[in-house]
Amino acid sequence: MKQFSVELRDDFQKNNQNAIALYAKPSANFVLKLAETLALLKQAVSEFSPVTQASSLGAEDVVITHLIHHNALNIPVFVLETGALHRETLALLERTQASSFTPVKVYRPSNEKVIAFVKTHGQDAMYESLELRKACCQVRKLEPLAEALKGQRAWVTGLRREQSSNRAEVPLIDRSEEAVKGQIKLNPLANWTWGDVWHYISENQVDYNPLHDAFFPSIGCAPCTRAISLGEEFRAGRWWWEDEDAKECGLHGQK
Ligand code: ADX
Ligand code: SF4
Repeated sequence: MKQFSVELRDDFQKNNQNAIALYAKPSANFVLKLAETLALLKQAVSEFSPVTQASSLGAEDVVITHLIHHNALNIPVFVLETGALHRETLALLERTQASSFTPVKVYRPSNEKVIAFVKTHGQDAMYESLELRKACCQVRKLEPLAEALKGQRAWVTGLRREQSSNRAEVPLIDRSEEAVKGQIKLNPLANWTWGDVWHYISENQVDYNPLHDAFFPSIGCAPCTRAISLGEEFRAGRWWWEDEDAKECGLHGQK
């Protein structure tokens, strides 16, 4: 799934284009997809409340928050602020909190656990082994996620099928983890393309993370995210030193 060609990148650099100019291109059936998404968000409120949106403040998530906001849906948003996010992401978080109709709640890891982890394993532990990388994700992401999901019947994510082979079969309504984690997962953008996401952002003038203008399509923690290079895949900049199969942090399970 090579979405970022040499030509695109050269064009970007020559003309100083932004992500909207580069990517916004709706599918032929975009209007139907948008209707499907809105219907699922409404169903989330009527059938699956209490329900909350997990937002990394990436392009997909700002689209969903915008839809929630504009349709006055009772879906509060939460952000896992791992303590290792880019300053651009933190700035967008502040802007979102200031402007959103929907409450935006921030969950942070335990200070004591982060300090103990860094003291024992060092700042760069995630590059040393898969085990240590997962241990860091456990403390900074998974434990705060468990807190955020307490008492919720469902959660909304920005997963899309197109993002990776691991996600190729993401359903709109995912009950597969209900028994384990306790919540139904709703993926209202499962069928959207990257072009659809940017078309929506463009049409609705949605605020977004400027890292997307600098070839960061998928944005996580700063130490574990880099810009992608010529011709690389969508998630190539995430945990780039690891095997393709390892590239999930546990928020969404393994392949
Ligand atoms: S990850 O598992 O590799 O980090 P990814 O960045 O693709 O996931 O994001 C997929 C979805 O997971 C997002 O659309 C969002 O719903 C949720 N998510 C990821 N990171 C966070 C975060 N820091 N806070 C809240 N939700 C997140
Ligand atoms: Fe730690 Fe990297 Fe996981 Fe963030 S993505 S929690 S910095 S290992």
